[in-house]
Amino acid sequence: MTKAKNIVWHESEVTKRDRQEAKGHKSAILWFTGLSGSGKSTISAALETALHSKGVHTYRLDGDNVRHGLNKNLGFSPDDRSENIRRIGEVAKLMVDAGLFTLTAFISPYQEDRDQVREIVDADEFIEVYVKASLETCEERDPKGLYKKARLGEIKDFTGIDAPYEEPVNAEISIDTNQLSIEESVEVIISYLKENNYIKKSQ
Ligand SMILES: Nc1ncnc2c1ncn2[C@@H]1O[C@H](COP(=O)(O)OP(=O)(O)OP(=O)(O)O)[C@@H](O)[C@H]1O
Ligand SMILES: [Mg+2]
Repeated sequence: MTKAKNIVWHESEVTKRDRQEAKGHKSAILWFTGLSGSGKSTISAALETALHSKGVHTYRLDGDNVRHGLNKNLGFSPDDRSENIRRIGEVAKLMVDAGLFTLTAFISPYQEDRDQVREIVDADEFIEVYVKASLETCEERDPKGLYKKARLGEIKDFTGIDAPYEEPVNAEISIDTNQLSIEESVEVIISYLKENNYIKKSQ
């Protein structure tokens, strides 16, 4: 729902296509989703480094970072989680328009929320990357000590413990970090980008 009335879109002369051509590659959202500790931040950051070294322009939006600023007024209730994802989707869309690969690393547990982001961009501009690891593995890794706190009841609504995670049903890329190393995971994504002509094969 748009609250404001009397607002009129103003087109730019420079288009998304112009910006992509200037950069020499397409732009899209790489939407990382998965349980806390599955490896979204780790793999997206490693991918960012790999793409940057190939001269591919990227920007990474990461859960906690965004909650420090743009989304500091949101918590972890279902409504706030949805609004969190909606805003990130809109920011990511702007960045795709700017010609960047936007790497987002959010648990984003609800299929409906992820699908809503998919819907606001062109069909090939949303690449859902399911970063999969068993709850046992994530809990063992527990890089932020959050599972421990959740099990002690110190954190409520924790995904996988007392809040749901809906597995993607139509992810373009699925990575099992129980099986693949960080480097192998990055390679899977770069191969996808090459095979689908997002970046040049020579890049
Ligand atoms: N194959 C692997 N791929 C990715 N991460 C791995 C792998 N094996 C071990 N790890 C470790 O697992 C942890 C994953 O943590 P990370 O912060 O990336 O998860 P996250 O999905 O971003 O979680 P959160 O939703 O809480 O931000 C890191 O400590 C990483 O080093
Ligand atoms: Mg993270």
